[in-house]
Formats: sequence, structure tokens, C-alpha cells
Amino acid sequence: MKFISLTLLIISGITADNFDVVGPVDPLIAIVGEDVILPCSLKPNISAVDMRVEWSRLDLKDVVHLYEDHEDKITNQLQSYRGRTEVFKDELQKGNTSLKLSRVQISDKGAYKCFIQSKTWFDDKVANLRVEAVGSPPLITVDGFDFSGGLHLQCESKGWYPEPELVWLDSEGVTLTSETTDKQRDTDGFRVKHMITVYNRHSKYHCRVKLGRHMMETEIITSSKMFHSWRTLIILISVAVLISVIAGILVAFLLHKKIAFYQLLQNQKGITEFDITQWRKYEAGNVILDPDSAHPDLIVSDNGKQVRLRGNTQPNEERDEDEEQNNKFDIRHCVLGSKIESNKFYYEVHVRWLPDWDIGVARESVNRKGWIDINPNNGYWTVGVRYGSMYQACGDPRVLTLSVKPQRIGVFVDYRKGRVSFYDVRAMYHIFSFSGQSFNEKLVPFFSLGFGRSDAPLTICDDFK
Ligand SMILES: *[C@@H]1O[C@H](CO)[C@@H](O)[C@H](O)[C@H]1NC(C)=O
Ligand SMILES: *[C@@H]1O[C@H](CO)[C@@H](O)[C@H](O)[C@H]1NC(C)=O
Repeated sequence: MKFISLTLLIISGITADNFDVVGPVDPLIAIVGEDVILPCSLKPNISAVDMRVEWSRLDLKDVVHLYEDHEDKITNQLQSYRGRTEVFKDELQKGNTSLKLSRVQISDKGAYKCFIQSKTWFDDKVANLRVEAVGSPPLITVDGFDFSGGLHLQCESKGWYPEPELVWLDSEGVTLTSETTDKQRDTDGFRVKHMITVYNRHSKYHCRVKLGRHMMETEIITSSKMFHSWRTLIILISVAVLISVIAGILVAFLLHKKIAFYQLLQNQKGITEFDITQWRKYEAGNVILDPDSAHPDLIVSDNGKQVRLRGNTQPNEERDEDEEQNNKFDIRHCVLGSKIESNKFYYEVHVRWLPDWDIGVARESVNRKGWIDINPNNGYWTVGVRYGSMYQACGDPRVLTLSVKPQRIGVFVDYRKGRVSFYDVRAMYHIFSFSGQSFNEKLVPFFSLGFGRSDAPLTICDDFK
């Protein structure tokens, strides 16, 4: 008798700490956005307060929640579970090691291992968690009109997980066959879309979305008005399409007819062939470039009608006298024309191949030394281009928007009115005007070329005389 009780004592002594871990038998189902409890407990119901309770994802082999040394340890916790897990501290002493998972996400779907370890024993159980997401109520839209007289009805619902079943039913509850079906999957779950065509004027149609125990339904009642308004809309749309086609043809026609396009511009800017003919009567053709004023890198033609940049292969051999050097521009590639004596004055310049140029008039006495700032305060009234496409008037940076690249520029000066105007002669387009200026002394035509990117010439035109 004594021997038996002793044996029992030893056996119970050894097994005192032993336990089994008990978990759920069936898979658990959680709804996205809601909380779920993953059950796990010890049998017998001894306290787990001093034990290690480790919940992990079997499939990801990562920690979901760890309780050890009487506290929660989040260091190795999976990022996606941060702040969403909890073991019940009051329940641990009853051997209840269940895990509460808050705000379930679709990605929480998987196998969870509940692993319990005491100083002398351990055991675990696996629980499977399924996740369901209940989507939006189905939305019915009238999606078009069939020429055979039917109405296209489309039903759409999103945010489901896993994929739900979507059906269209007639007023008697008979399932209708959808003509087109569409299904998409994103992080919010599945989006399903089915379309049917209906012909009954006064009828009720239901769209039903079902997933497990969840079901949602929306209905639509068709009226003859609906059919009617669709027909009207179709007619209106056809008319609108026709009008846009006609407008499109018209625009294409105008763009093709460049002349017509210029005519438009010309009317807007108010200059005509007549104006140019008038201006050309003023003192034109008498402009001669003054080689004494030209920058040493410029070559002025013998007749004084053309100027170009000296190329690298054409060394500047001639050295002028000191006095003549004093009249030259020494930094900017500029040259002046002969003095303007009359009150109204007009000249034309061909600039076609040049990427950089400035044209206009300057006071006879302008400073020619150093880096000159070309603007009306310093006695310059010009327009020009940089990089072949940036047009500007001198002075405050005044950007000019030109739709056509000018090839020939007309410059018109009205001395008494203080006006200098610039025209694109071919397009008959007014580019820019300075007005209300005080010139105070005699003016000379002014020309400036860029810095060595092109040796194309700038030519004063006499051909209209
Ligand atoms: C353990 O379970 C027994 C019977 O199942 C119960 O009487 C007892 O109160 C439980 N102990 C704790 C700490 O919950
Ligand atoms: C464990 O505790 C939770 C929270 O109080 C409870 O919902 C659950 O039923 C408990 N499980 C067991 C086996 O007692």
C-alpha cells in the first residue's frame, strides 16, 4: 500500500506540470474589419501566467504575438499585425491563451500556431482562419440602349472576398443569363460586374450578390419613359457627333489653307498689303551699313548691304587705325547703319538663316564699348530672337509669341510720334511696336548677330524699291 502511494506520488510529481494545448476543430471565419478570437487553452486548466505563449503564422513562419516573462514582446512581430493582437491577461491564469485579432484584413487568412511552453513542457495546436469580406450593395446603372429596342442594365458590386456570386433575377425570381460578366481582384477584394439587356417596359429586375451567409440585393423598375428618353438621347448624341465631325473637317481645311490662316492673323493685327506698300514709299533702300562701327569679327560687304560673322577660317588681318577702332562695338557683334534724316523711315531685313539676331534703331551716339545692355533707356529700340525660336522685344524682358518664324522683318520709324514698329513682311503680321518714345537725337539702323553659331548673312533688302 505504501509502495503504491509512493509510486503515485512520483508519477503525479513528474506529470504535475504536463498539459495539452486545445484549439478549435473547425476552421474559423472572420469578417474583414471586424475582430476575431482565435481560441486556444490548456488542459488541464493550469495557469499560463508564467509560461511562454507564442502565436505565429505557420505559412509565413513569423511571429504574430509573443507573451513571455509576464509581458508582451513586439520586437519580432510581423509588421501587418502591429497593434492588432492581444492575449487576455486575466484569462491566462485559467489556462486560456486565446488570441484576439482586431480589424481583420484579407491578408490575415492563414494557419495560426498556438505554441505554449512551460519550464518543463511544451505543446501546440494549429487553427485555420478564413477571411470573408462583405462588399458594397449592388449598384444598378442603365448603361445604354440597344437598337433592337432593349435597355442595357449593369449591376456592379465591389469589396468582396472571396469571389461572390452575382445573379440577375426577373420579377418572378427566375435567374437571367448575363451577357457580359467581368471580375477584378485588388487589395480591397473582388469587384464583379454583370450586364443584361431587357425588353419589358414595366417590369422589376433584381440584382443579387451572395457570399456564404451574406446576401445583398438591389432592384430596378423599368418604365416606358426610360426607353423613350434613351431613344431621344441617342438622337441627340448622333447630332452632336455629326456637328463635331463637321467642325473637325472645317478646322483641318483651315489649317491646310495657310493663306486663309494668315488672312485671319492679318485681320486680327490690322495690317494689309496696302500698309506695307505705303511704308515702302518712305526712305527705304538708303540704308548702308557703316563698317567703321562694326565689331572686328563682322564682315560688311563692299556694297554695305550685308553683314556676317567671320568664320574661324577667315582670320582678321586688317588692323584699323586707333581712331577708327574707337567707333567699333568691341564686345557685342553689332553694326550700325547710315544716319536717318527723314521723319518717317522704313527698311526691311532678311534674317532667314540666322539663329540669333536683334534689329531696330539706335541713337547715333550710343555707347559701343563693353557689354551693352540693349534697351530703350540706353538708346536702343529692337526686337530679336535667341536660339532660333525665342522672340523678344528689348527692354523689360518682353516675350513675343509668334506662330510663324519670320524671314523678313520690316522696321518702320515715325520720329515725331516716337514710334518704332516691327512687321513680319511675308505673313503681314505686326510683331511689336514701341510708342511714345523720346528719341532726342538722330537715329541709325541697328543690327546685332549672335555669338558664332552661324555665319549666315543678315541682308538689307532693296528689292521692293
Ligand atoms: C478549471 O476547471 C474546473 C472544472 O472544469 C473548474 O472547476 C475550475 O474552476 C477551473 N479552474 C479555473 C482556474 O478556472
Ligand atoms: C478565453 O477568453 C476569451 C475572452 O474572455 C473568451 O471569449 C473565451 O471564450 C475564452 N476561452 C475559453 C476556452 O475559456
